[in-house]
Amino acid sequence: MTILITGGAGFIGSNFIQYMLRKHPEYRIVNVDKLTYAGNLENLEEVEDDPRYSFHEGDICDRPFIVELLHKYRIETLVNFAAESHVDRSIHGASEFVRTNIVGTNVLLEIAKEHKLKKFIQVSTDEVYGSLGAEGKFTETTPIHPNSPYAASKASADMLVLAYHHTFGLPVVITRCSNNYGPYQFPEKLIPLMIANALSDKPLPVYGDGMNVRDWIHVADHCTAIDAVLHHGAIGQVYNIGGNSERANLDLVKLILHHLAKPESLITFVKDRPGHDRRYAIDSSKIQKELGWKPQYSFEQGLKETIGWYQKHQSWWKRILSGEYQQYYKKMYEGR
Ligand code: NAD
Ligand code: TYD
Repeated sequence: MTILITGGAGFIGSNFIQYMLRKHPEYRIVNVDKLTYAGNLENLEEVEDDPRYSFHEGDICDRPFIVELLHKYRIETLVNFAAESHVDRSIHGASEFVRTNIVGTNVLLEIAKEHKLKKFIQVSTDEVYGSLGAEGKFTETTPIHPNSPYAASKASADMLVLAYHHTFGLPVVITRCSNNYGPYQFPEKLIPLMIANALSDKPLPVYGDGMNVRDWIHVADHCTAIDAVLHHGAIGQVYNIGGNSERANLDLVKLILHHLAKPESLITFVKDRPGHDRRYAIDSSKIQKELGWKPQYSFEQGLKETIGWYQKHQSWWKRILSGEYQQYYKKMYEGR
């Protein structure tokens, strides 16, 4: 099987490519990525000489380019990771989110329909469900209620994906996963940002009161879940994926400081994110029951390993921090 992976130079896509090449020696992977600020080919250094893998720089909105690749590699399966993925950036400007996440997904759907692909996996997020109060969890039947421009763009894409299934019989499956953490996560997301700042003895910016809750999953567990969905997921279905690891941001930040033997005085409360979702929690019993998947990592173990990875790979994230990210960081935290 040859799989077209979009957005494979990002955090989850690069972990998925490495995982798939290890797990399925007979598969070939074609990676398409626009290499935005979040795309980093260093993430794929280990596989770049693998004859089963090829990389093609390009945009999922570029129809002729994608069609050419489908022909060239006789693609029948597509996993769409490509997206603008950071909520804070979507608050500063949503146009790229609409373009890549909605228009780009529609371009891929049109192509998949015309070329009769056998499977189209849309990698979505639990953020499409909106925010929870103190109790309850998102299930696949929870109504869609996105709050941030990022979540709205992902929800729009999900609606299009389901519409192509309903209207044209396109063989789609959607996954909705909770917050990922692990190796190669861009250091503007909570966990790598806090590790990097703590290692550099810089302030750790916690939004609002720090009591917003996220349900964390190790990226390796997300990869095994997508693998299960790709092979055994029922067409037209949505599968929630989660790691059963709810944590308030403040508790998580304290845990990171504790692991690194750094003082809690590094914590700095900053102005809250506008429209900040209070709590996410995911019920993943459907994928567990139907596909026999379950997460392998405990949060304690996963976080410990992740901190170790960022300690060991300081040159990876320091190169990122010295580049475009610096300007972004200044703009994002101005006035906070
Ligand atoms: P990321 O930002 O690290 O990677 C996104 C990748 O997409 C980058 O390599 C980027 O260059 C590429 N890209 C962006 N626009 C493109 C375009 N127009 N054409 C081709 N490539 C383009 O994001 P991530 O955290 O790896 O997330 C991957 C997917 O998983 C996204 O669809 C995201 O919505 C979803 N997801 C992420 C999380 C999470 O916690 N990170 C949780 C659930 C779902
Ligand atoms: P993030 O990693 O941006 O993921 P998402 O908003 O998609 O869940 O943020 C995770 C949580 O951490 C979220 O509640 C916002 C909070 N946060 C901070 O408190 N400080 C920060 O500097 C960042 C980036 C996030």
